Amino acid sequence: MSRVAIKLNNVAKEFFDGKSWRAVLKNINLAIFTQEFTIIAGPSGSGKTTLLTIIGLILSPSAGNIIIDSKDVARFLEDDLATLRMKNFGFVFQHADLIPALNVIDNILLPSSIQGGVVSNHIKDKARKILEDFGLIAYINAMPQQLSTGQRQRAAIVRAMINDPILLLCDEPTSALDIESSTIVLETLKRLSQDERRGVVMVTHDPRVFPYADRMIKIENGEIIYDSKLNKSGGA
Ligand SMILES: Nc1ncnc2c1ncn2[C@@H]1O[C@H](COP(=O)(O)OP(=O)(O)O)[C@@H](O)[C@H]1O
Ligand SMILES: [Mg+2]
Repeated sequence: MSRVAIKLNNVAKEFFDGKSWRAVLKNINLAIFTQEFTIIAGPSGSGKTTLLTIIGLILSPSAGNIIIDSKDVARFLEDDLATLRMKNFGFVFQHADLIPALNVIDNILLPSSIQGGVVSNHIKDKARKILEDFGLIAYINAMPQQLSTGQRQRAAIVRAMINDPILLLCDEPTSALDIESSTIVLETLKRLSQDERRGVVMVTHDPRVFPYADRMIKIENGEIIYDSKLNKSGGA
């Protein structure tokens, strides 16, 4: 069953531009569900990346509450946030950002080795399993430059999946891709989002991806102007 993964109540974010404070997000109220492909769309500069970064507990809000498992985590300290981040989220960015000097499997295992030193066989097996599932197992020892841009982005998704995240948070993951690679990446994300234990949130300004959304949220000037709510209940 679909459930609330995270809830934002009256979230605002201001940035200091050198002279004054500017409101970049205003009064954001939002619950994100598992088993859903949520797309947050809006023009460049509307606050999409800021919102995704706040959802991912990388950036703290200037005001408001962030509820995970009935707890307000908005003012948690960095150590506790790091634990929550690792447990809850996987991140995928516009460019796959694989390290060119490392092969595919070492790129995928890198975050795990930074976290815990020696990478367990369990994690390695899981990486192999996801690579197989993604049709990338033949590239396990390949270098990033031997992969197409779409394959690189899918390897970055494998890396983001390694901790079994509840939410996969993606920032314009298809905007550097051609139509064909973009379709494959979107189908991969869509499939991952249909698991009841997981949801996908993707921010984008690319209308080509809209048909994949289970839920569409539009933001403009830091405010939600449209949300095709699916009428699901449940508390975070
Ligand atoms: N760290 C920051 N300091 C100051 N201004 C910022 C910072 N991050 C983003 N902004 C500003 O906030 C606005 C929204 O940015 P962003 O969330 O990156 O938008 P989008 O991802 O929709 O293009 C932009 O005007 C941007 O310049
Ligand atoms: Mg952005």
